[in-house]
Amino acid sequence: MAKTFQTLGEFIIENQGDFQYSTGELSRLLSSIRLATKIVNHQVNKAGLVEDILGDVGEDNVQGEAQKKLDVFANETFIKALIQREVVCGIASEENEYFIPVTNGSNAHLSKYVVLIDPLDGSSNADVNVTVGTIFSIYRRVTEPGTPVTLEDFLQPGNKQVAAGYVVYGLSTMLVYTTGKGVNGFTLDPNLGIFYLSHPNMQFPEDGKIYSINEGNYVHFPQGVKDYLKYCQKSEGDRPYTSRYIGSLVSDFHRNMLKGGIYIYPSGTNNPHGKLRLLYECNPIAFIAEQAGGFASDGYKRIMDINPTELHQRVPFFCGSKNMVKDAEEFMAKYPEDNKNY
Ligand code: AHG
Ligand code: MN
Ligand code: MN
Repeated sequence: MAKTFQTLGEFIIENQGDFQYSTGELSRLLSSIRLATKIVNHQVNKAGLVEDILGDVGEDNVQGEAQKKLDVFANETFIKALIQREVVCGIASEENEYFIPVTNGSNAHLSKYVVLIDPLDGSSNADVNVTVGTIFSIYRRVTEPGTPVTLEDFLQPGNKQVAAGYVVYGLSTMLVYTTGKGVNGFTLDPNLGIFYLSHPNMQFPEDGKIYSINEGNYVHFPQGVKDYLKYCQKSEGDRPYTSRYIGSLVSDFHRNMLKGGIYIYPSGTNNPHGKLRLLYECNPIAFIAEQAGGFASDGYKRIMDINPTELHQRVPFFCGSKNMVKDAEEFMAKYPEDNKNY
């Protein structure tokens, strides 16, 4: 039995009034994402049972990373749901080299919103039955409604986001999102296919004891990160902290938001700009973190204030409990030359 009986659909409609002059457009957009989420969830749950879900497609995506069959399925599902329901004027996806202008249908080009998505996050976990996710980010277009979207509509700093969210396909499936008025989490009842409000007004603990980083890359890390890790591991006060790393940003972030912790994907000699993508991963997760009282930085400055220059831009990412991110920034500040290198 769900803890509350408020469904995601009801919640979206009831909170529509938060936006001045709301026309219900954002509500319809969020409802389309909810639908696509259920379809992807259904498919993720069958992984291992039916053919053609697990494994590589045999091609690399635009980032030169092996595309998984589930990456392709999730990407197509979200794009189809958004285009067919005519709720956006453009879509950018981690899996597509260029943004997609939405031109079919009579009114689609009039929509004022663009969506950026990481359709399947942590996809390398899918083959081994470990949690994956979806991340989405919504902006108001900056060009004139009614005209075709341009790159400018997508290259906006994170502080301009209208809404952002993620789905975690875990032990249960949860959709967590913000429209800039706090963060709320909804858990899917798999039998009814309904998301219920299960985590109202989520709050990031200000301090935490978990650090999440791929320590296999240690030798490549900037000195500030190495020093911070030594600090985390030192026996003093409430340290050493605990290390937890799933390898899917959504799951690592979700755990840290509930328990208190920091996630770090730094720059490194093997990844000069870090690995995570500013527009599809860092900005939406940063928006949620801040709305829950956490913080996100590139090690030196606020993630959401970065002015993007390309769709698939990567940035170092430090995100989590406010005091932990501030501590990490202090260690980074001792090596200002590393800031210039990324
Ligand atoms: P994606 O599957 O969308 O490409 O994202 C994978 C990302 C992120 O989810 C995760 O935290 C990180 O890559 C893991 O990278 P490493 O395997 O290098 O640790
Ligand atoms: Mn990802
Ligand atoms: Mn992905």
